[in-house]
Amino acid sequence: MSDNYKRVLVTSALPYANGPVHIGHMAGVYIPADIYVRYLRLKGKDVLFIGGSDEHGVPITIRARKEGVTPQDIVDKYHYIIKKSFEDFGIGFDVYSRTSSETHRKTASEFFRKLYEKGEFEEKTSEQYYDEEAKMFLADRYIMGECPHCGNPNAYGDQCESCGTSLSPTDLKNPRSTISGATPVMKETTHWYLPLNKHEGWLRKWILEDHKEWKSNVYGQCKSWLDMGLQPRAVSRDLDWGVPVPVEGAEGKVLYVWFDAPIGYISNTIELRPHDWETWWKDKSTKLVHFIGKDNIVFHCIVFPAMLKADGSYILPDNVPANEFLNLEGDKISTSRNWAVWLHEYLEDFPGKQDVLRYVLTANAPETKDNDFTWKDFQARNNNELVAILGNFINRALVLTQKYADNKVPACGELTDFDQQTLHEFSEVKSNIEQLLETYRFRDALREAMNLARIGNKYLADTEPWKTAKTDMSRTHTILNISLQITANLAIAFEPFLPHSTDKILHFINAEKFAWERLGSTNLLTAGHPLNESELLFEKIEDEVIEAQVQKLLDTKKANEASEYKAKPIRPNIEFSDFEKLDIRVGTVLECVKVPKADKLLKFTIADGLENRTIVSGIAQHYAPEELVGKQVCFIANLAPRKLKGIESQGMILSAEDFDGGLSVITASKGVKPGSEVR
Ligand code: MF3
Ligand code: ZN
Repeated sequence: MSDNYKRVLVTSALPYANGPVHIGHMAGVYIPADIYVRYLRLKGKDVLFIGGSDEHGVPITIRARKEGVTPQDIVDKYHYIIKKSFEDFGIGFDVYSRTSSETHRKTASEFFRKLYEKGEFEEKTSEQYYDEEAKMFLADRYIMGECPHCGNPNAYGDQCESCGTSLSPTDLKNPRSTISGATPVMKETTHWYLPLNKHEGWLRKWILEDHKEWKSNVYGQCKSWLDMGLQPRAVSRDLDWGVPVPVEGAEGKVLYVWFDAPIGYISNTIELRPHDWETWWKDKSTKLVHFIGKDNIVFHCIVFPAMLKADGSYILPDNVPANEFLNLEGDKISTSRNWAVWLHEYLEDFPGKQDVLRYVLTANAPETKDNDFTWKDFQARNNNELVAILGNFINRALVLTQKYADNKVPACGELTDFDQQTLHEFSEVKSNIEQLLETYRFRDALREAMNLARIGNKYLADTEPWKTAKTDMSRTHTILNISLQITANLAIAFEPFLPHSTDKILHFINAEKFAWERLGSTNLLTAGHPLNESELLFEKIEDEVIEAQVQKLLDTKKANEASEYKAKPIRPNIEFSDFEKLDIRVGTVLECVKVPKADKLLKFTIADGLENRTIVSGIAQHYAPEELVGKQVCFIANLAPRKLKGIESQGMILSAEDFDGGLSVITASKGVKPGSEVR
């Protein structure tokens, strides 16, 4: 590293334990963090990689309520699913703990307490919605009502999902509690606030002047927050799930999830290193790096640093290399809509192919802008890059060695100019990759590593050792020696990116992990060194396999469309006498014809037990005229007549309107006399 840090503390966002992890989480946070950590470890750096589950917050309590279980049940379930996915994909955390742990409760509690005693908080009383039936204050998500912007009757207290507007609960018309259905009332409550406005000065300098090197997407977001001016932020909530506020009289209040969660990084470090955790968090010679997604930027660049500064004994992050979002086949990934590729499901469909996904997600990482994952691109990158370039080179080098050198590293003879040139080219790769990894440009670093394999392929294609074998075996041996040195180099260069595959390569060449510093050297394997049996490193993925994945997503889309339909809210109550005003009858359709020059209208002649009547109805796009003849339909008999296309319509035929706008005429289920009343 070009800086003077003695150790590196790497954290990655603690995922909410209310669902499994998907490719968006991996591409945005965990793969880049893991690449970075693996690289530092190979370099022999002192590094800790901290992970864990974020187990508090309102969404977890909502999910628990819906499923009729406790929040603890929810987080117990997902914590282990998430933890296992990370292990399966080789995300090499030194610790993966959880914010419901005792250590965390104590750490977060003490953290709050110190700030409280130092007078770093402001205490404010305000009015908030309270559910008198459920006897609790309502989090924004627990309040629904009518959106003031679009009229959606089911908008949430923090957002209308229909028009996307951010709301606050008091914006809603006719608010109701989703817990009891009761109309909430305003009630006073006291909370503690972190006065970010008081931290604005040093934050501006620290970020905008001292950290111009931060990624432009991160720097830009921070700048716009700072330019808008910072406001005090509440750090407590009225909720029964979380770390209790450790202040007398604060019963029923917990720390706000975004206050306790980042402290989880500290708690998990304490769990891992109870004796020297402070060196990792408080010694200026530690470099702290937070890997996160873009929705977490303000919390990690502004709020958490302000908390650390308020304490006064902590270091601040050196960098926060946040990524943007990964979309899936053109749509935003969504847990609730099941629009995702879940890691555990991926592994069921592609057992053993962790590295293929790691590769694709790195090659296509949303480093500076949102990016799209498509199954076609997944297939292409596997077939055209992993199989055709990396796998192909290594396989050829190993198979040729079996064939011409008794599966041992052959001796290297005199080098030609082309040999020299090749060796020179790949020795340059090291500093390129390093420079890219140290500036968090993982896509480019991966491309650079892939170039090493390209150089190898070109070398074999140009030197044709299978031809020289006919005339000059020692030349063939030299070529193979160089090819095997390149292979060993690939095992170094790719270790941060494809750890499962580099383990395999190391096994094929019968070697232990090499230090990063040896990348670029030409004597990683000595002549006479025996190799192991090898097999193909990657295999082609066929079209059918990809089509099945695409089909799975199409099925999800269909299911969502069907389930996203919500019945319209019920209109205000009416009196029975209002109902009695309506005269609804059953009539038999005697005749039905299209109305000329009106593509929506049908003209009916209806037997109504009196004199027969004409009704014009806008259902021509849903029925062919002959379909309804002879049917007994329901109609409103006392609707004032009105003219449609010059025809007087004496009533209205009743139909049910489906969620997609389809119409279905209401018929009597048993034959009745025309003119029978409907009541
Ligand atoms: N659980 C949060 C999310 O998924 C991330 C929390 S990061 C933390 O967006 F460190 F602050 F915990
Ligand atoms: Zn709306």
